[in-house]
Amino acid sequence: MKSISLSLIPLLAALANAAPSAPGWRFDLKPVNSGITALESIVVSPNLVVFFDRASNNPLQVKNHSAWGALWNLQESTVTPLDLLTNSFCASGALISNGSMISVGGDPNGFVNNPTIQPGTQAIRIFEPCASPTGEGCTVFEDPANLHLLEKRWYPSSVRIFDGSLMIVGGMHTDADFYNIDPALSFEFFPPKEDAPRPSEFLKRSLPTNLFPRIFALPDGKIFMVANNRSSIYDIEANTETALPDIPNGVRVTNPMDGSAILLPLSPPDFVPEVLVCGGSQTDDRIQPANLSSQKPASSQCSRITLTPEGIAKGWEVEHMLETRTMPELVHLPNGQVLIAHGSRTGFAAIAQVPDAIGNSNSDHAVLTPSLYTPTARLGQRISNAGLPTSNIARIYHSSITLTPQGNFLIAGSNPNPNFTAPAPGIKFPSELRVQTLDPPFMFVERPKILNTPEKLGFGKRVTVPVSIPSSLSRPGAKVQVSLMDLGFSSHAFHSGARLVFMDATISRDGKSLTFTTPPNGRVYPPGPATIFLTIDDVSSEGAWVMMGSGNSPPTALE
Ligand SMILES: *[C@@H]1O[C@H](CO)[C@@H](O)[C@H](O)[C@H]1NC(C)=O
Ligand SMILES: *[C@@H]1O[C@H](CO)[C@@H](O)[C@H](O)[C@H]1NC(C)=O
Ligand SMILES: *[C@@H]1O[C@H](CO)[C@@H](O)[C@H](O)[C@H]1NC(C)=O
Ligand SMILES: *[C@@H]1O[C@H](CO)[C@@H](O)[C@H](O)[C@H]1NC(C)=O
Ligand SMILES: *[C@@H]1O[C@H](CO)[C@@H](O)[C@H](O)[C@H]1NC(C)=O
Repeated sequence: MKSISLSLIPLLAALANAAPSAPGWRFDLKPVNSGITALESIVVSPNLVVFFDRASNNPLQVKNHSAWGALWNLQESTVTPLDLLTNSFCASGALISNGSMISVGGDPNGFVNNPTIQPGTQAIRIFEPCASPTGEGCTVFEDPANLHLLEKRWYPSSVRIFDGSLMIVGGMHTDADFYNIDPALSFEFFPPKEDAPRPSEFLKRSLPTNLFPRIFALPDGKIFMVANNRSSIYDIEANTETALPDIPNGVRVTNPMDGSAILLPLSPPDFVPEVLVCGGSQTDDRIQPANLSSQKPASSQCSRITLTPEGIAKGWEVEHMLETRTMPELVHLPNGQVLIAHGSRTGFAAIAQVPDAIGNSNSDHAVLTPSLYTPTARLGQRISNAGLPTSNIARIYHSSITLTPQGNFLIAGSNPNPNFTAPAPGIKFPSELRVQTLDPPFMFVERPKILNTPEKLGFGKRVTVPVSIPSSLSRPGAKVQVSLMDLGFSSHAFHSGARLVFMDATISRDGKSLTFTTPPNGRVYPPGPATIFLTIDDVSSEGAWVMMGSGNSPPTALE
């Protein structure tokens, strides 16, 4: 106080008396950096996020070498290295029905001279449920000789399915530079259901631009897939694929022409699935990267389809983002809106392939202002960036973003370089270690609270939990939403497994308890960890971490 001059006091008093301005969205830079490029991120407990990177010359050290895995502590904003055996570069993953996080696939090579790095292409990495808020004693389990995928997969996708196991889709056998020239044209499961992978026509039909296929578990248990400009529904139980309409206007939406895709919120009673796909590139994928440019505009197109017979007959509905974006991210908010973040206005994913790369970046003109997509608004009025802040940190290739149980977005990574590349004059897109959150306005006001929840919830059950509702939100007719969410595994402009299921809910007349009805079965919400948010008039609570279903390990056969 001593340092404030007397003349400032009236001004401070005036500021204190002024009506508080409505809180807005904010970027918040964390005091600690990630130590590795967080190109993959997944929330694994109410307070912990696992980051994965490539095995390279990262500053963060573990034992006697650079780390390529780490745990981020959300409350403390601190980072702890994880010691991995296999190279997790360009892997996928998800939580399964017993709460374990399973990471699959990765790079065949180490990028630094460290003899202990083992190939990641067939890797299965298990992070068991971690009760310690700081992650003490929690590690990644790997046993590459005995526990591995059936097929080699770099750039695969994965999703938790109706029985709580993981389905793993596509990828490439080796590390090629740009297109998928040595494809894994198959699906497999973890834990395995059979001895051989299942061949896929869809993956063949979507070559050569089909890395990190965008895949979704539909509420009838089937799997919807988008890769390149193609789409398909796969029936796991019948082992059949049904081709669906192409994305219109030749827009390709998977790596190296990444758009992003998201399953829009599912609502009772019918849980009608709709998928939104945004960004990517209209480029002909017969053109080799030597003839492409970092300055080629990406696509602004968003395409949306309703996955019912009538919706499929109608095909994709087209709308446009406010700008072109390659490598955008689409992420759920607890109120059902979708955040559109990250990416570049021009160019492509992958590293140092186009002749006019910016340093090593195949893309340029980072988009620094996110937008919001409101699924319930009318066509043409769904996308806006009003009130959203602009960042000064490019988040392009190899960046990640995830909704946290606190209700804000954790943002890290970006590294379009073949190695760790420190910031230096003349380097426009270095390896980005700075960590931010993007905080919605509700982080700065009094929020509803879910005071307690059972650890496990059954399907099709009415559940009553104690809540506290601030008086500011206790108005008759307030909009009450309760969402059951999988926060997804963020890697390469896609959130594997991300899901929002709204639940019918009422708040008691005294405002002290909330009663909601859980989804009818594991097809609507595959059994496994979930975060429950209560939102009143767009003000969301912190999330409550629960287990949907028995918490048992997944079966090894179809039941
Ligand atoms: C990455 O850097 C390490 C050491 O700094 C070097 O040995 C390695 O060759 C580099 N890898 C690539 C792909 O540039
Ligand atoms: C680290 O130590 C282990 C065990 O002593 C050794 O096998 C490995 O080669 C060392 N790695 C490096 C990068 O020096
Ligand atoms: C999808 O891409 C393929 C291969 O480039 C092309 O033949 C087909 O016409 C495209 N579909 C649409 C709807 O543009
Ligand atoms: C680039 O385009 C030129 C002219 O169309 C063609 O001759 C050449 O083969 C192309 N090169 C690659 C690598 O695609
Ligand atoms: C979860 O299931 C997987 C697959 O069976 C198994 O490897 C893992 O150890 C299990 N974790 C727990 C906590 O049971």
